[in-house]
Amino acid sequence: MIVIAHRGASGHAPENTMAAFVRALELRARAIELDVHQTLDRELVVAHDDDLRRCGRDPRRLKTLHWDEVAKVEVGSWFDKRFAGERLPRLEEVFDLVPPSVELHVELKHGTRVYPGIERRVVDLICKHGALPRTVVSSFDHEALCSLRSLDENVRLGYLIGLTTLKTALSEMKDLAAESLNLSVRQATARAVKAAHDLGFKVLVYTVNTPADRDRLAKLGVDGIFCNYPELDLWR
Ligand code: G3P
Ligand code: CA
Repeated sequence: MIVIAHRGASGHAPENTMAAFVRALELRARAIELDVHQTLDRELVVAHDDDLRRCGRDPRRLKTLHWDEVAKVEVGSWFDKRFAGERLPRLEEVFDLVPPSVELHVELKHGTRVYPGIERRVVDLICKHGALPRTVVSSFDHEALCSLRSLDENVRLGYLIGLTTLKTALSEMKDLAAESLNLSVRQATARAVKAAHDLGFKVLVYTVNTPADRDRLAKLGVDGIFCNYPELDLWR
């Protein structure tokens, strides 16, 4: 069972910042998850929320801002004063930082309906870095997954189930040739895990931050867990 550093090592450093990704690498994470949005001038930025309220104390929405405005917003001190210099990374910076041996799970927070052309830009960036083999693109926006598949037959897809029923999800995953069913801890039942495995899909579960949840999911045979503490597999 692989432990995927959720938003980087976000238990140790502010989520989705270079500090969190560096920390994940220091902790020898084999995989790193991050979230992607797009600015008004179509730069791909790594952030969880649609706006900068929670991490930047700034209510503006990313889709209304140009990259040079986003780049000025400080997003580390909400976590700890030590991180006051942190800025939102561009997706490209993370691909430059993370070595090819580490898997990247890139979650598109919205597809083209909110961020025109984002699927094309993400695929182009992955290809530019020769990173198709080590990158999984996931989304709750299943139309975005369809766009990604139509853009590239080799892009690896993770299907975040959200409110979709298991039956519909598994059917759509077959059509998409997705590789993993991504479930919340609550959704990760023995039935769901077995149904996905029976069809040859992996199961990845978020967000798992305790040994008790980790051990339950390991017993169910899930393939990976998204965790804010990449060293969780060492905790007893
Ligand atoms: O991709 C798994 C997980 O990251 C989805 O939820 O809200 O942490 O992006 P969230
Ligand atoms: Ca995410």
